[in-house]
Amino acid sequence: MLEASSRQELREHIQAWRSSGQTIALVPTMGNLHAGHLALVRAAREEADRVVTSIYVNPTQFAANEDLANYPRTPEEDRESLLQAACDLVFTPDSNTIYPHGSDDACMLSAPPSLASVLEGEFRPGHFDGVVTVVSRLFNLVTPDVAIFGEKDYQQLLVIQRMVKDLGYAINIQALPTVREGGGLALSSRNRYLDARQKVAAQNLSAVLQDVAALATEPGAEFQDLESQAKKRLENYDLIADYLVIRRAQDLDLPRQGDRDLRVLAAVWCGKTRLIDNLNTNWACNHDD
Ligand code: PAJ
Repeated sequence: MLEASSRQELREHIQAWRSSGQTIALVPTMGNLHAGHLALVRAAREEADRVVTSIYVNPTQFAANEDLANYPRTPEEDRESLLQAACDLVFTPDSNTIYPHGSDDACMLSAPPSLASVLEGEFRPGHFDGVVTVVSRLFNLVTPDVAIFGEKDYQQLLVIQRMVKDLGYAINIQALPTVREGGGLALSSRNRYLDARQKVAAQNLSAVLQDVAALATEPGAEFQDLESQAKKRLENYDLIADYLVIRRAQDLDLPRQGDRDLRVLAAVWCGKTRLIDNLNTNWACNHDD
């Protein structure tokens, strides 16, 4: 597996591949890789001749009160996992490479308000501006044909799809379903902060989302009632919701009569750890099939 941390090193590898006509898939990550990330890398293998995984903990998507300094960094383990997943190149830029003039004095992109000011954006103001800024820089440096993202961060996926359309990137965005533990808990780098008791409690998040997803498609479903009952259920497990909502899958707008393609999205606090998860309302049907 090749490694690059500077723009120059990266460019040399990309140019060598391009000159022999090879296509490139990019998997952007912040490291501390788990089976969810590695599923993206394996999917990337199917999409292009070469797979680049980037590892960069992006400061501009963290607010001052968030866990940037404590974000888990496991470079040795990550390298080993990527080797196993047959990644071709790991790109590990430092902040000077991504933000040559510093992240506080950077040329920033802003994410579209209709998608980025709600849900995660309401509780993490500016978060998606940081995400589109870093992802566009990674796109410019790696110049991939395809980039792979997880549905785990569903709102992020929609924001990036929109960025690609708005800015005219010729990059195919592929989405992969969330990888979960046996008990249903979505894999996340933040799960490591949960103790054994909290981990059991946290499994109720996906269980409650499944129930809401199944009920939301029943005729006459009252979305607001479903949402508030679900939040109360979560409280019984000491899971305190920032939000738990049923939204239109395509644009996160409030559902209208007859909308079929819905998504249930939630962010909950489990002690000091914030967990996010989401499910499509088709989940129940898909699962039974
Ligand atoms: P990170 O949280 O490391 O996630 C990297 C990618 O892995 C994202 O596309 C995310 O949706 C996906 N992912 C995380 N957990 C997953 C799971 N359980 N199953 C499937 N996919 C999963 O998301 C980011 O980093 C950053 O915001 C980034 C896009 C890299 C920009 O800094």
